[in-house]
Amino acid sequence: MNTITLNNGVTMPQLGFGVWQVPDDEAEHAVSAALAAGYRSIDTAKLYQNEAGVGRAVRESGIPRDELFVTTKLWNDEHGYDRALRAFDASMERLGLDVLDLYLIHWPAPAQNKYVETWKALEKLYADGRVRAIGVSNFTVQALDRLLDEAEVVPAVNQIELHPQFAQDALRAYDSAHGIATEAWSPLGQGKGLLDEPVLTRIAAKHGRSPAQVVLRWHIQLGNIVIPKSVTPERIRENIDVFGFELDPGDMTEIAAMDADRRLGPDPATFG
Ligand SMILES: NC(=O)c1ccc[n+]([C@@H]2O[C@H](COP(=O)([O-])OP(=O)(O)OC[C@H]3O[C@@H](n4cnc5c(N)ncnc54)[C@H](OP(=O)(O)O)[C@@H]3O)[C@@H](O)[C@H]2O)c1
Repeated sequence: MNTITLNNGVTMPQLGFGVWQVPDDEAEHAVSAALAAGYRSIDTAKLYQNEAGVGRAVRESGIPRDELFVTTKLWNDEHGYDRALRAFDASMERLGLDVLDLYLIHWPAPAQNKYVETWKALEKLYADGRVRAIGVSNFTVQALDRLLDEAEVVPAVNQIELHPQFAQDALRAYDSAHGIATEAWSPLGQGKGLLDEPVLTRIAAKHGRSPAQVVLRWHIQLGNIVIPKSVTPERIRENIDVFGFELDPGDMTEIAAMDADRRLGPDPATFG
């Protein structure tokens, strides 16, 4: 498994497992299947209501804790310094873990105007050793500019919507220039639609791989961290099997040309 070294020296697997929209009991099975398939990084959130299931799978896996990387996120109704500290405690209680690997502000929610105050709470959790790295999600250039002006700790990660039809070149470049790792959510464009695109099926056939594997390989070669989600055992295995082949520069160019500014999720400038 490739790893990415974050700006504080902590290493994170480049490919992990997402569990959005997976109910708590199903999350336990899916995460257990993912860990058995070799995944070592799991991405959950307070919003997903499955931190407890994720925690059970992690604790019961028998895998040493220091070989696992667990991310969770603070939801939009938990912004503010004290609320954020309480939100972290509640997430850790549900996960059943002592130390978290990565804690993210899920959305900047600019209308609330509290993300800087919230970040101060994450800095405190980090300083106290309760979390190994802190970061943000869905932060725009504008939100990052403001945060970096006021922050003591530069976010380790910005987790954003990113797939071939929404390639986010400008934000990726901004993250990179500031030492922030870019993590792609909905890396498969949520599956349907994107994976049937003829460009991808043709490149997949050429390499004897699936379109999903081609998309994940594209992310890996760009340097993105990816967290594909699946509850289907064979897809769980397929999605991690992307380190044994390479896309050539022509493939990368063709996939880059698919960018259509096609956002699937909410606009962070107005959401929350
Ligand atoms: N920070 C944020 O705001 C944010 C927002 C959204 C997501 N996320 C994170 O990112 C993770 C991934 O994003 P996502 O769940 O939105 O979408 P995704 O990973 O791009 O796609 C998941 C969908 O693709 C299907 N799929 C998975 N592997 C496949 C394969 N090999 N072939 C065909 N179809 C496949 C899955 O179906 P089955 O499950 O039925 O197999 C599911 O319907 C989430 O789980 C979550 O952890 C974060």
